[in-house]
Amino acid sequence: QKGNYEHYMQKEIHEQPESLTTTMRGRLIHGGSKVKGVLLGGLKDHLKTIRRSRRILFIGCGTSYYAGLATRALVEELSGVPVTMELASDLLDRRGPVYREDTAIFVSQSGETADTLEALEYAKSFGALCVGVTNTVGSAIARGTHCGVHINAGCEIGVASTKAYTSQIAAMTMMALALGDDTLSSCNRREAIIDDLINLPNKVREVLKLDNDMKELAKELMEEQSLLVFGRGYNYATALEGALKVKEVALMHSEGILAGEMKHGPLALVDENLPIIVIATRDATCSKQQSVIQQLQARKGRLIVMCTKGDANLMCPNGGYRFIEVPQLQDCLQPIINIVPFQLLAYHLTVLRGFNVDQPRNLAKSVTIS
Ligand code: M6R
Repeated sequence: QKGNYEHYMQKEIHEQPESLTTTMRGRLIHGGSKVKGVLLGGLKDHLKTIRRSRRILFIGCGTSYYAGLATRALVEELSGVPVTMELASDLLDRRGPVYREDTAIFVSQSGETADTLEALEYAKSFGALCVGVTNTVGSAIARGTHCGVHINAGCEIGVASTKAYTSQIAAMTMMALALGDDTLSSCNRREAIIDDLINLPNKVREVLKLDNDMKELAKELMEEQSLLVFGRGYNYATALEGALKVKEVALMHSEGILAGEMKHGPLALVDENLPIIVIATRDATCSKQQSVIQQLQARKGRLIVMCTKGDANLMCPNGGYRFIEVPQLQDCLQPIINIVPFQLLAYHLTVLRGFNVDQPRNLAKSVTIS
């Protein structure tokens, strides 16, 4: 089942061009020679209701929550409906308010996560429209929601979620496009995103070529105690998910930090020894990330900069740092590209540190008790 790969996680990272293709198959509508829009069969009868919602709630745990976070801004941009992020356990702990006019979107690879399932029952009891985004046909969340989208990433066996994460973002991007379908003003933006969705599998193939570079970086970092990851905008989710991958499989402390919060505490940690990855690929927040890099440089931070191919000199004119150069896509799809080097890094760190890649200590693939 692992084919030529040594571990499921490795296989699942490398099959992302195919899993993404499957996620999109039959869902991009052709108008003449051009792809015009998106058709999500499981949602089409509910789009009007979702557009009229008072707000959308994204509810999930772990990686699935981060996939929601990565698409939040696009859903808000295209639908005009405010999106609130909810970790399922926290929504339940505080018995947060849910309204009949809300649309609650439950994101879960397995479709069986206890907290997410309980949050679904909770939201249903208030009369919210409940939408599932799952990878498992017939799962409890798929059955319990009013409508939904299957991400069709194929079976994911490694405990660390990899291909499901990228397919969740692709599926929710299509959901955002479907929600924005009747607005003329966003027509160019929608077309540009659709064009890049079509390019996505090839771009992921390109970024997978960084495998050896990430192995070299893992060799440099394997003895470290800690790794920080700074991101913002669309890639705040990448910082959180990248850090989660490193901690859950490589058993190394790692923290994803919103770069805008750097001066409010994390800056105190910066010295010549602590490795820091700064995500600074091109988007509306890129110049802010450039100034974060300068501030970290001024404190002699040990930087690894993730930037758009060809931007290394621009981002760090003084050089001297390691770069992870990635291909560019529309800002909202960039998290799918940017997470891949982190997945590879976490994988190689784990192998080098001698830990179990597919079955990390203390973790289960599906958390069915809360
Ligand atoms: O099956 P789910 O997507 O609901 O699982 C949620 C989390 O338990 C899961 O994403 C977890 O964080 C992964 N092990 C992360 O790689």
